[in-house]
Amino acid sequence: MEALSPDKFLKQLSDHREAFWEKMTAERKSYGAEKPLTPQIVVRRLQFGVVMERKAAEVSAPWVSRLPELELQQSLSEYVANELKHASILRKRISELHADPDALWKNPLEELKELWNFHDSLGSFCELFASVQYGHEEFFPRTSKSFIERVESIDPQTAAIYRDTLLADEEGHEWLAPEILRCYATDSVTQQRCLEALKKGCELFGRAIESFNRSLLA
Ligand SMILES: [Fe+2]
Ligand SMILES: [Fe+2]
Repeated sequence: MEALSPDKFLKQLSDHREAFWEKMTAERKSYGAEKPLTPQIVVRRLQFGVVMERKAAEVSAPWVSRLPELELQQSLSEYVANELKHASILRKRISELHADPDALWKNPLEELKELWNFHDSLGSFCELFASVQYGHEEFFPRTSKSFIERVESIDPQTAAIYRDTLLADEEGHEWLAPEILRCYATDSVTQQRCLEALKKGCELFGRAIESFNRSLLA
């Protein structure tokens, strides 16, 4: 099979991602993901954020030394530092709300463990970037916007953390995944593996989100 051009390859990935987003958005309503928030749900949501930010850093960090280009190594290191900073900001906010910052970290939902174990098991940085940063991390600004709208009236400080720090930083590193995929996912085998990784990553992410939302109703 012939390799796709970088543009066509990225379009193929984003088409799958967007199709998954449509499906997940329809399902999210059915398990109450957009319901009004309570202070307890806000804390759970922040605890979920701690796991997502810290794991994104942990699975990405080992690949810094495998990137051939110094400038991309530097950008990936900054990405890792950024996600760890987010985890630590969220932990601080949870402490201010008098809850355990690591409740979900120490005792993760099964589906959440599966998601990150999968990312940990990937065999190349291209697959990882297709699945995490070009995959479900692209959903973060969208779900965060809806969270900010709903949390603003009951906890404006948490809303400000999401709006002014987490989302603002996110915009700063959105370029990194397409750049890495353009440079290094240039043969058909790697491209195919990236697509499989993205599909599986989205599916596991969807399951983790559903399990998390259902745990709030329990
Ligand atoms: Fe982050
Ligand atoms: Fe991020």
